[in-house]
Amino acid sequence: MTELEMLQKLEEMLDEKRFKHSLGVRDTAEMLARCYGEDVEKARIAGVLHDCAKNIPKDEAFAICERESIPLKPVCYIEKGLVHAYLGAHIAKHEFGVKDGDILSAIYYHTTGHEDMPLLTKIIYLSDLIEPGRNIPDLEELRLLAQKDIDEALIRAINSTISHVLSKGSILDCDTVMARNFLVQEKREKSAI
Ligand SMILES: [Fe+2]
Ligand SMILES: [Fe+2]
Repeated sequence: MTELEMLQKLEEMLDEKRFKHSLGVRDTAEMLARCYGEDVEKARIAGVLHDCAKNIPKDEAFAICERESIPLKPVCYIEKGLVHAYLGAHIAKHEFGVKDGDILSAIYYHTTGHEDMPLLTKIIYLSDLIEPGRNIPDLEELRLLAQKDIDEALIRAINSTISHVLSKGSILDCDTVMARNFLVQEKREKSAI
């Protein structure tokens, strides 16, 4: 499937706001891919498709996961918003014809992150939060930092996600904690050299 065909299909699956967000993530991911020497095509595709399952009603999303034998962690049944990422990777593969494991993994982990993330996953995680359509305080600083030091930007982004999850009294996925701790530890080891 060409990128144009993907866009046409995606536009039918998403509401206008989510489609615009997806284009913003695609463009931000491309910009960061150029900054850090990641494959630009992979970044664009992972960026544009990351939320492809977002507008599927939750009951339907769970039903599809069950039918397609997509394994879900127990936390998904409490924090149901997480499902769109896992289902999104499946849909990207089976409905958009994406075969590249790096792209599928970046989509799969775009909400939680995970320990020792590859560059493409880091780029998509961050692009999701800083794309131009996002409008939250102090974002401009994070946008600039993302282009200078992606790991430091990620630590700050994950810290603020964790604070947000805690402030809502929601359940925090272990992968997010592992993602943060790995980056913090790596940074400490580098600064000790
Ligand atoms: Fe998402
Ligand atoms: Fe998103």
